[in-house]
Amino acid sequence: MQLISTVEELRQRLCGETSIAFVPTMGNLHEGHLDLVRIARQHGRCVVVSIFVNPLQFGANEDFGKYPRTLQADCGKLEGLADVVFAPTERELYPQPQQVTVEPPSANELCGAFRPGHFRGVATVVLKLLNIVQPQVAVFGKKDYQQLYVVRQVAAQLNLPVEIVGGETVRAPDGLALSSRNQYLSAAGRTKAAFLYRMLVGMQQAMLGGERDYPKLERQAVEALTARGWQVDYVAVRTQVGLAQPESGECGLVILAAARLGETRLIDNLEVCLKG
Ligand code: PAJ
Repeated sequence: MQLISTVEELRQRLCGETSIAFVPTMGNLHEGHLDLVRIARQHGRCVVVSIFVNPLQFGANEDFGKYPRTLQADCGKLEGLADVVFAPTERELYPQPQQVTVEPPSANELCGAFRPGHFRGVATVVLKLLNIVQPQVAVFGKKDYQQLYVVRQVAAQLNLPVEIVGGETVRAPDGLALSSRNQYLSAAGRTKAAFLYRMLVGMQQAMLGGERDYPKLERQAVEALTARGWQVDYVAVRTQVGLAQPESGECGLVILAAARLGETRLIDNLEVCLKG
């Protein structure tokens, strides 16, 4: 496995590779990331993982400064799984202020409503990384469901010659979705955190059992989370394709939620496939 930190060296290394599968990350890797890397291996002969904490996608009061940076340990975990790790500096990726940006759809909805500019930052860095690596396939986690949607739209609407593959969410035994941000939680917070997924499963069961009053389910979920000490950004039932408000009779749905325990903001989602 090769660790590369400049665009020029990466381009030289990848020149002539015709089957590249790419996994962009911000590092501090856990099993969720590694699962995506294994999926990438099924799609390409050369697997590239990027590690870059992207300042453009963090708001002024967010955790850019304290986001865990663990490059050495990350490289250890990728040994034997990836062929190339691309870990550029901020200066390398943004040698000048990034004035050209991508404004994706849904940028001001769901998480975008609470993180202004976040999805512009994500879409812009993902487009840059795809242009640098030029993979045939890129793998993203369903854990960040709206991000996966945004990336698919960028690839489709800008005609990028890349196939976007979605990987299932990897969870801890109690159901909590693995996330680099889980380590911000106190021991008590970590115990409470599993409720977010239990709440999603409860909503899923109700929907599979025939409940179609989604606004009521959303309200009940917000109340249940709030009663347990969460500050809820949103709980929303949307369509899997398009993340739109469901019309009656819609079958492919997803429940998306974002809520904070203290300072720690957690997101999760669960797909619900109703019978047509
Ligand atoms: P990061 O949070 O490091 O996540 C990198 C990839 O891992 C994303 O596609 C994310 O959805 C996926 N992932 C995270 N936790 C997961 C889990 N528990 N199970 C499965 N996949 C999981 O997402 C980003 O970085 C950045 O926004 C990035 C796309 C790299 C752009 O900066």
